[in-house]
Amino acid sequence: DAAERGEYRHFMLKEIFEQPRAIADTLEGRLVGTRVLPESFGNLAPEVFARVKAVTLVACGTSYHAALVARYWIEALAGLPCTVEVASEYRYRKQVVPSDALFVTLSQSGETADTLAALRLAKSSGYAATLAICNVPESSLVRESDLVLLTHAGPEIGVASTKAFTTQLVALLLMTVALGHENALSDTAEAHVVALLRALPGKVEAVLELDDRIAALAEVFVDKQHTLFLGRGEQYPIAMEGALKLKEISYIHAEAYPAGELKHGPLALIDEQMPVVAVAPNNALLEKLKSNLEEVRARGGQLYVFADLHVPMVEEEGVTVIRLPETDDLIDPIIFTIPLQLLAYHVAVLKGTDVDQPRNLAKSVTVE
Ligand code: G6P
Repeated sequence: DAAERGEYRHFMLKEIFEQPRAIADTLEGRLVGTRVLPESFGNLAPEVFARVKAVTLVACGTSYHAALVARYWIEALAGLPCTVEVASEYRYRKQVVPSDALFVTLSQSGETADTLAALRLAKSSGYAATLAICNVPESSLVRESDLVLLTHAGPEIGVASTKAFTTQLVALLLMTVALGHENALSDTAEAHVVALLRALPGKVEAVLELDDRIAALAEVFVDKQHTLFLGRGEQYPIAMEGALKLKEISYIHAEAYPAGELKHGPLALIDEQMPVVAVAPNNALLEKLKSNLEEVRARGGQLYVFADLHVPMVEEEGVTVIRLPETDDLIDPIIFTIPLQLLAYHVAVLKGTDVDQPRNLAKSVTVE
């Protein structure tokens, strides 16, 4: 066990640091020149993708958060309507299946009982095809789906998913481009996404250099009972993922809100005892987010803002800004995930919890 962990104290940390390699491996062989190779999803994929007019994504846990990010991409880049649902809800309600819809499951293990049951249900519900994005080649989900894209993250041991999540996001971006090629995405836009993907492992490597800074920041959270995570747009699911990581391994109650919803409830909770973590890339929603953060400040809340280099935000009493290297809107969800993983990790280490095997949780939930 120690040998496999190498120099790392926990598998989770090792897996966080493996992300540049895991992402590169997930891209390997799937890009040709300025294009995504649709055949990466299987021989039938080009034919299926040409037909698809809507997408349904279903998953559990961290994989569900990846699906939530993808909805923004699929609607914005591919121009296709997209719905996302947790598998345990999807399987127990009556759904209206759109015509020519692609049913996509996401799963690290490929054995999550609810996700598998949702796939089996979908196969008899009139979808055009099923597609699995999965990390385990010999899993049930892979065997039972029409199309497959394997995330090549390698075995993930830590119960809290890290590299499986970011490689799922990469896989989802590949899928969005392949679908977009048949729909709203121009060749220039496709080439832009492909260039961003090729540069991604290096960008992730650069963000990992924040490790020491975040380890120091973690001290603030150790004696807190609650933490609020805020984001807008495709950073809202990243805020959800940050909150999930923190609660899974540090046992601090954490929840995420889309920042625009603050005044509809969570503002009532704000005081010095409630740290507020915000994910703030320099995108079209930044000004909106900043005014939401002002509302937190005005009530004495302590803000910890992850922002990229160009975000005009200054450190002051009650506002800590952690700068990330400059990126691009499209890959920001992947980039901003990394410091949140590190934050949860270091808080858990300081609290002395069992980081790789948190209480009451399992790596793969194979029973309902
Ligand atoms: C469990 C794990 C999570 C994981 C979820 C879904 O709850 O602890 O880390 O995200 O299952 O698992 P899957 O293998 O389907 O991605």
